[in-house]
Order: sequence, then structure tokens, then C-alpha cells
Amino acid sequence: MEAMTNAENVVDKVVADFVARYGEQPGWVVRAPGRVNLIGEHTDYNDGFVLPLAINRAVAIALRPRPDERVRLHSLDFPEQPAAFALDEVRREQPAPAGEGWAEYVRGVAWALHEAGYAPSGWEGTAAGDVPVGAGLSSSAALEMAVARAFAAAGGWEWDAPRMALAGQRAENAWVGVNCGIMDQMISAAGEARHALLIDCRTLESEPAPLPPGTAVLVLDTATRRGLVDSAYNERRAQCERAAAYFGVPALRDVSPERFALHGAGLDPVTRRRARHVVGENERVLQAAAAMRAGDAGALGALMNASHASLRDDFEVSSAALDAMASCAQAQPGVYGARMTGGGFAGCAVALVEAARAEAVADAVRACYVAATGVEPAIYITEASAGASVITP
Ligand code: GLA
Repeated sequence: MEAMTNAENVVDKVVADFVARYGEQPGWVVRAPGRVNLIGEHTDYNDGFVLPLAINRAVAIALRPRPDERVRLHSLDFPEQPAAFALDEVRREQPAPAGEGWAEYVRGVAWALHEAGYAPSGWEGTAAGDVPVGAGLSSSAALEMAVARAFAAAGGWEWDAPRMALAGQRAENAWVGVNCGIMDQMISAAGEARHALLIDCRTLESEPAPLPPGTAVLVLDTATRRGLVDSAYNERRAQCERAAAYFGVPALRDVSPERFALHGAGLDPVTRRRARHVVGENERVLQAAAAMRAGDAGALGALMNASHASLRDDFEVSSAALDAMASCAQAQPGVYGARMTGGGFAGCAVALVEAARAEAVADAVRACYVAATGVEPAIYITEASAGASVITP
């Protein structure tokens, strides 16, 4: 099994490249992690609750300041797409979605920081990451928050996680043109080692929730990747907005399960199912956080299983591969619960397991998944790690 402990390698790689390129040590090395969501799916854009953790895979950047208000960032992963631009150029540009090239994330974050009232200054350096791209582990948010961390280091400003997360989301929404919520950037900006984070996506307040003693988190990559599913994501968002309008509230966060039970019948059947997922999922997140405070792995796992069923049947964002992976995991002794994680349709599931049996569970899930689908999955034991940080100096 691959262990998710490559972060040092990414840091070593960017430092080595920086030294070879510039002939000196970097002024700073920063990193920002990817994430896996324990529970709370498709709730963030409904002003609801999520419970993700930062994984120990990240994007790292080694950098030094430049005196001339320019940014130059070389990527070891996308060497043909270096980011090289003048800050005043970006400042003058309007948010015209410019495509999803690697460099656009860097430019988009510079633009969004400026829009948010910061004064980004120039720097140059090297980036590399080990968050698998396209797997639903938020490699884009990791890049955005690493770039924001680099600007904060070079500009000498305090790391304000919610404001940095909002700038990253703005870059992704308005510059890159992907309509995501705030969860991925928030956990990458604010994650805590050994903890998940209960995030209120309306206020952006967050509270660390410790993993139950003796448990480990497995990331179960189905090795399937999303096609063009932005339209499905946007359609779900529109359905949720319609449901909120029906209830006369700003967002589905404001609909209690009781109110839904009383008045939900007036919605058309599809919108009703979508709303039922969001209303129920918000409750499950709050119950999951309580279970974590109580160290109750069994209760947390049961809520994860219920979340998967709701995403599959009511929100309809699972897939045959994700269902197979979740069922394979749920059937193993030593597994408290498992579910699809992230936007859906492909990518990863997540399982909460007994730490002592994690290796055996991973082997059994792999065999089960291969038998069910004929596809070889990638399975990692992950550690909850810290959010965006300056590693050196
Ligand atoms: C994607 C988005 C997040 C969130 C999830 C679903 O990962 O980037 O903002 O909406 O889907 O929970």
C-alpha cells in the first residue's frame, strides 16, 4: 500500500530545483495540502456544514522576493506551463475565465488577492505537488492556497485563513471558471494535524474535531476520473437554490428537518430529493462532530454510511465505481463506515477504519473492488495534517 507521506519529497524537490535555478537557498518554502471530506457533501454552497481533513499530500513552493513586481513560477509537474506575469497586468485585467491551464490558477490568485484589498508583491520560484490531479482530492485548492501562502510570505502579511480561502475560491470561480464552494480552500488554508475541521460555510468559523482514538482514515481511489460533469454540479446548485426559494430562505442551511418534513411535499420530486439530501446531510455533519468529540467511531461511521446512501439515492452524484468501492469497504471487519467523497461521479471514497487493521482492510477492499470492477484502485492511509504553512525559514 502506498503511504501518503510524500510531503517531504515535494519539499526536497522544490528546494533542489530552486537551488539549481537561482544558485542560492530560497527565502521561504511554503506548502498547502489537498483534502478528503469525512462528511458534509454538497452542503458548502448551501451555507451548511462540512467536516473535511487536510491530507498529507500537498503543493510546495520554494521562493524568493523579486524587486520588480513580477511573478515567475516554474512547475515541476507542468514544466511547459510556467507562470510569468507582471502584477500590474493582472491588476488591470477583468475576470475573464481564461481556461484551466496551471498558470491561470497562479494569475487568478494574484488577481483575487488584489481584488480583496491586498497588495501582492513580486516573487519567483519553483512549485511541485503530490496531490493526485483529478482524483477529487482538491489539488486545485492546494495550488491556490500554496500560491496565496507564497504571496503572504513575500508581502509580509498575516495568514488569515478565511480571507485567503475566499480569495482562492474567487480565483477558481471568476478566473478559472469553475463554480466550486468554499470547503476545499478552507480546509487547505486552515487544517489542523490529527483533526478534521467542522466548518460553518456561512460564517467560515471552524472548530477542530479530533479523529476518534485508534482510528485511521483510508482514501480509496476508484481510479475513475470525471468527464464533463460541471453541468451536473451546476444543475445540483440550481436545484438547491430553487428549493431554498420555495421555503423562502436564503439557503437550504436554514431549513430544519422538521420544517422539511412538514412542507417538503410541495416540491417537485427531483428537487425534493435534492433538498432532502442537503437538509439531512447538514444534520449528519453536526451529529458526526458530536460523535468525534465523544470519540465514538461507531456513530461517526454509521453517519458516513448514511451519507453515501443519501448521495447515491437522493442527490444522485455517485457512480457504479464509487458504489462498488463504498460497499466493498463497508463489508470489511474493522471498517466503521465508508462513503464517496468530494463532488462525486468519479474519484475517491473515504473510510474510517480501526488503525490496527488498516493494512488488512486496504488489501481486502482492493481485492473486492478488483473483483467487482476489474479496475486496480489506489488505496492510501492518510494522516490529518496541518493546513497551509511556511516550512522555512
Ligand atoms: C467539490 C467542490 C466543493 C464541494 C464538493 C461537494 O469538491 O469543489 O466546493 O461543493 O464538490 O461537497
